[in-house]
Amino acid sequence: MPSILLERSDPTPSFTHKPTDTPIPGARQSAFAGKVALITGSESGIGRATAFALGEAGARLVINGLSDERLAQTERLLRAEGYPVVRCVADVTQFDACQRLVDTAIDTYGQLDILITNASISMRAYFADMQPDVFQRVLDSNVYGTVYPLKAALPHLIESRGSVTFISSISALNGMPSGSAYCAGKAAISNLAHTLRLELAHTGLHIGVVHLGFTKNDTTKRVLDANGQPVPIAYRSPRWQKTQEQVAQLILGHIRRRRQRTVVSGLGKLIAFVHTYLPRLGDWIVRQSMRRLRHFYE
Ligand SMILES: NC(=O)c1ccc[n+]([C@@H]2O[C@H](COP(=O)([O-])OP(=O)(O)OC[C@H]3O[C@@H](n4cnc5c(N)ncnc54)[C@H](OP(=O)(O)O)[C@@H]3O)[C@@H](O)[C@H]2O)c1
Repeated sequence: MPSILLERSDPTPSFTHKPTDTPIPGARQSAFAGKVALITGSESGIGRATAFALGEAGARLVINGLSDERLAQTERLLRAEGYPVVRCVADVTQFDACQRLVDTAIDTYGQLDILITNASISMRAYFADMQPDVFQRVLDSNVYGTVYPLKAALPHLIESRGSVTFISSISALNGMPSGSAYCAGKAAISNLAHTLRLELAHTGLHIGVVHLGFTKNDTTKRVLDANGQPVPIAYRSPRWQKTQEQVAQLILGHIRRRRQRTVVSGLGKLIAFVHTYLPRLGDWIVRQSMRRLRHFYE
């Protein structure tokens, strides 16, 4: 089993929590007071911002990641804000590790109300160039990194009539060049959510998917190239990007309203609309952009 820890130049990047200056109108975050929330992949990025938002809203937190050093730093920052938090290093593509992660929540707080499967590895490579094991690593992190935490947490979430949110992408709604395994994994978990909603409707458990659009990333974020080497993410125009804090508030709004599906951003909704109702036009636009905006994909 190859290590899926992506190397980073700075193992403990500095991070300052900035509460969003544009709170979601009508958000009543007291719905989270006292709830126990487990967020996978929350040592950095959107998962960390979501942990801060949930802490601010009164939730008790279980944070997770692959690096104890980065996780401990995030835990310190959360504690400094006065939020109850426990950390657990666990590779979410391994079922035993997920069982340990859920046990940490139960041993610490005695209950589990909210699961957010956020951990993921992304990629930047055309399918024809990709090593098969790299495809598998990206797919596994998005599929089993969602399936295994939920499988371990399910009895507790059913008991609390809690909430599960799969963090997906607008690229699950349509294909995206240079993202084959990532798009396939994100699309798979949408279908999984639908199946589970049907199977578990009688339990009162909320199961939803949030399709995120372009978000400002940590400068240290890395994705895999065709050979499995960590590389910076491809260029995205800053004007298309939401902040991590804005995205975190949207995730909280999705959970609070127990929505089945949230597509984030006007651009995300436009992409979803075009690919659903005008798919040939959508493909034409993407092919044009592949010629004119190579740096967007490569
Ligand atoms: N950023 C965007 O523009 C965007 C757009 C659409 C969707 N999304 C989705 O939003 C979510 C968060 O993205 P992000 O941008 O915040 O990514 P990120 O900065 O790379 O954070 C992902 C986190 O997941 C952790 N992780 C990866 N594999 C793991 C594993 N097997 N077990 C445990 N933890 C693991 C990473 O740990 P390490 O740091 O140790 O690697 C990292 O802390 C992902 O599901 C992503 O697909 C993001």
